[in-house]
Formats: sequence, structure tokens, C-alpha cells
Amino acid sequence: HRFHKNLPKTKVWAYEGKVPGPTIEVEKDQPIYVKWENKLPKKHFLPVDTTIHGAMDSPEVRTVVHLHGSSSRPASDGHPEAWFTRNFRQTGAEFVTKTYEYSNRERATALWYHDHTLGITRLNVYAGLAGLYLIRDEEEKALPLPKGEYELPLIVQDKSFNTDGSLFYPSQPSNPPPDLPFPSIVDGFFGDVMVVNGKAWPFFEVEPRKYRFRILNASNSRAYLFQFSNSQSFFLIGTDGGLLERPIEVQSLQVSSAERIDIIVDFSKQPGETIILQNRFELGNPIGDVMAFRVTKPLKENDHSQVPPILSKIDPIPLTEVKKVRHLTLTETQDKYGRPMLLLDGKEWDAPVTETPLLDSVEIWELENKTESGHPIHLHLVNFLVLDRRDSNGKLKERLPTDFGLKDTVTVNALETVRIIMRFEPYAGKYVWHCHKLEHEDHDMMRPLTIR
Ligand code: C2O
Ligand code: CU
Ligand code: CU
Repeated sequence: HRFHKNLPKTKVWAYEGKVPGPTIEVEKDQPIYVKWENKLPKKHFLPVDTTIHGAMDSPEVRTVVHLHGSSSRPASDGHPEAWFTRNFRQTGAEFVTKTYEYSNRERATALWYHDHTLGITRLNVYAGLAGLYLIRDEEEKALPLPKGEYELPLIVQDKSFNTDGSLFYPSQPSNPPPDLPFPSIVDGFFGDVMVVNGKAWPFFEVEPRKYRFRILNASNSRAYLFQFSNSQSFFLIGTDGGLLERPIEVQSLQVSSAERIDIIVDFSKQPGETIILQNRFELGNPIGDVMAFRVTKPLKENDHSQVPPILSKIDPIPLTEVKKVRHLTLTETQDKYGRPMLLLDGKEWDAPVTETPLLDSVEIWELENKTESGHPIHLHLVNFLVLDRRDSNGKLKERLPTDFGLKDTVTVNALETVRIIMRFEPYAGKYVWHCHKLEHEDHDMMRPLTIR
């Protein structure tokens, strides 16, 4: 950072030496193969809780990469048990390859790749193992959206640092029960420094014109309610699964861990000003300012980009095709140490598989959140549509703007029930579904999803 030449360096774990990892950009329907190689050191530099899923039983650090939002075959999906270490790969059944195939059959959108190792995902992602993956298609290219240097990924994370510059991650919950093994998992992580695209206290100089921002919330636990300091409105044009049918003008947007938003922001009325992207959620130790946009660059040429009134078409899933409705609860309990533990459908990861949809079948899942906090629920392999949100009395609530797009992660807010609908295709096999607050995912809000 040019203003802080003397700041100490921060040790991270990185894909290809970069944090975030390099953005992979591909064309729809052009499959790629990625050879993932584990060159991580033997020991973790963050506090590993050895009581969680035997996280460090192997002599070296484990990793496995999942391409979030992709529809990959089971062998390329990065199943949490498909981890491998530097010199040793788990040889059970299908989990022997580290060359993954990505078919890129999805619509144009922003996916992301990140570590998914059973029991230490929160630590590996926090250490830096995450990156963006953009799929392009002809439909998107034909739209007059801001392009080139006017389209920018913003990978948003909250971190904390020790005074020597190293990453801080807590090794004990804030109110630890007695006799807690050390170090112990926490039930949520909230950092006090905003990091965007790997930079702390970020700012960006812009021209007075429209920009397209591809925002990914890659924070461990934190959800944001994004808004601009001058309260200017902006357009939501896409979500996890690609473009919306029509742009939605908004003044704020809720974005939980793992969700992506595709937005158009117009700076043309603020030459010379600084506009701050802010977080209006007061959760955790609140961070108000996310990043600054300084409208200081001269306009290079007239801005011919537009927010077209029609963007795309999203195929509905007819209710007449529904084969099964599952009611699944999100609950909080305590583990044997008295620590908070979160569960899906009242079950831990190791309990027998219960979500076993048939290949090509349509299901509705009713996600009932019985806890006082929000949970971003993610399914591997499929995109889904959000049908509705209800409060704890069953009364319909207003949907979020992001509910109008194709989703792979949906936040079920405190005490809400959200219904989602999806078709389980195109592959059968072993996947997972989980809460994407990584501390919840690791303990123990993840369940197998086996498509038969
Ligand atoms: Cu973003 Cu199962 O993960
Ligand atoms: Cu995923
Ligand atoms: Cu959760």
C-alpha cells in the first residue's frame, strides 16, 4: 500500500501466490481442467481445534478446492472429505484425483473457488484460500453494460490483525465454558478491518460514469447491508446464478457469506466527491465503512453503457413437477463441551444421509430458522429459486431483491422460514449442503446431499 510502506507483512495462504486467488475467466460451455496441487506447509498457522472432525489427524495440512455455484461432477466438486495433503491423498473410492473438470455449463455469472476441507474450512479460507471465477456468455456480451476497466470484481472480507501484521483469528469463544479444549472453535468470526481484493482500508479512483461491480462476500461469518454514504440508489442486475430478468433499483442490499451481487453504480453526478460503500448492519463488532470511491479521474470518453430494462430470461420451475417437499430446521444446541453448536434438521454431519433426492426430480425445501441469527444456506450442484419468506407465525414477508434471481445461497434470517425450489440435475452422486457462515459449517451445520 503506497501510503504505508513500513507496514509489516502479513503471512497468508494463497492460490498461485495471490490473495485473493487469480480470477479465472472462462467461456460458457468450454470445459476446463484445473490441476490443484497442495504446497501448503506441514502445520497450520491459525488455531486448529482438534476436536472438530479429526481436523489434523493427518501429518500435513489438508486442503480441497470447491468451485462454489458450479455444477460439477461429484469427483470434481471438492467434497469436504476429498481433501489431500502435500504428499498424501485420501485413496477412498472416487476421491483420488486433484485434477478437476469444470464444465462451465452455467449461465454467465460470478462463481468463486475456495477451500472446503472438513473441519478447517473457516481457517483455510481465512488464511486466504479463495478466488473469483467468471463465466461469460453471448447473451451477457450483447448487453450494453459497463465493460473492461469499468467492470470490477470486489471481493469483500473482514479480517483482524495482530500488531506485528499477522492475521488474528480467535482461539477461544468470547465467553468460554469451563474445561474447553485449547484452541477451540468460535461460533462466528467478526473482524475489525475491511479487506477488499486483498487490500486493507481500500479505496478506488473512478471516473464520473457508470461502473459494474461484481461483489462477492467472502467473509467467514459477516453479512453486510450495503449502502452508499450519499444514499444514492443503484441497480441490482444479477445474483449468484447470473443475470436477473430485469434490473431492480435499490438503495441497500443484504449480502451474506458466499452470496454474489452484480450491480451498476452511476458516479456521473458526483465529480470530485468521495462516496463510501458502507455496511449498515450492526452485527458483530460493526464495521461501517467498506471502501471508498473517489470520483477524481477525468471522464475518458462519453459513457455509452446502459442498464437495459430487459436483461435475461429465467426459466420458472412449475409447481406441478414437485416430487417432494422437505421441511428442514436450522437450530442451535450445545456440544459436549457446552459450546454452541448449530445443526441442520437437528443432525450432525456424521448422522446417516437423509437428503437423497432423485436425479432430475424437483423438490421444495422449507428452511425453518429457529435461531436468533441469519444463516446463508448453500446447496452444491444446483441453482434454486426462492419461493417465499414467512415469519415465525407463518405470515408472508416481503422478499429480498436478490430473491428474484437464480441462487445457490440464500439467507434465512432469524426466525424466518424460506421456501426454495430446485431440480436436482445433471449428476447423481455425493454432494453437500450447509450454512456458509464458515464457523457454522465447521461445527456442525453441514449435511450430505446424495442425489440418486
Ligand atoms: Cu462455497 Cu460448499 O461452499
Ligand atoms: Cu458450493
Ligand atoms: Cu449458520
